[in-house]
Amino acid sequence: MALRTLSKGKTLGLFSKFHQQIRGLQTFTLPDLSYDYGALEPAISGEIMQIHHQKHHQAYITNYNKALEQLNEAIAKGDASTAVKLQSAIKFNGGGHVNHSIFWKNLAPISAGGGEPPHGSLGWAIDQHFGSMEKLIAKMSAEGAAVQGSGWVWLAVDKELKRLVVETTANQDPLVTKGASLVPLLGIDVWEHAYYLQYKNVRPDYLKNIWKVINWKYANEVYEKECP
Ligand SMILES: [Fe+2]
Repeated sequence: MALRTLSKGKTLGLFSKFHQQIRGLQTFTLPDLSYDYGALEPAISGEIMQIHHQKHHQAYITNYNKALEQLNEAIAKGDASTAVKLQSAIKFNGGGHVNHSIFWKNLAPISAGGGEPPHGSLGWAIDQHFGSMEKLIAKMSAEGAAVQGSGWVWLAVDKELKRLVVETTANQDPLVTKGASLVPLLGIDVWEHAYYLQYKNVRPDYLKNIWKVINWKYANEVYEKECP
């Protein structure tokens, strides 16, 4: 996850640059995408990708950093009440940063393997747990469409039980809120901001097309790391 110190423009040396802490506080920054904004078209428009990344994800990061700085100040002052009050902003905006950082990695242009089913052990595990890739896609699409309001639908591995699960989370709750042993393999953003410009708020249409640009190779890499 991208981190940088609050001190801008200060040269602290090659090795200390990312570790030097100013007032003990570091800030998070927007991660780069490994593909162009328009590279996922026609499944996801370049306009949506650009706004989603530059505006929405950036806003979560800005507000997360602000809340962490306020928390730092509250702790320094011994202000327990304010420290507790900040927890919801930290969960929401920090969750937004965590979730979107995963989401960008879960997508890939078709030319880079987007939509190609996993070739590794994840493909076998999906068949075993869900019957087939088609059944998993149908299940995640249905559960994602049924999320009330805003949220996420996830394919995860329970690293203690060594099994795949499909979960949903509300708002920007990260998957870890559903279980400490859950590791996200694939998270699909079902907030309106992920599709409204292109799909006119018809979430099932978005959920039908996003599978064309899912980066199963990345999901397989995470799965094989967690379940060697
Ligand atoms: Fe989003």
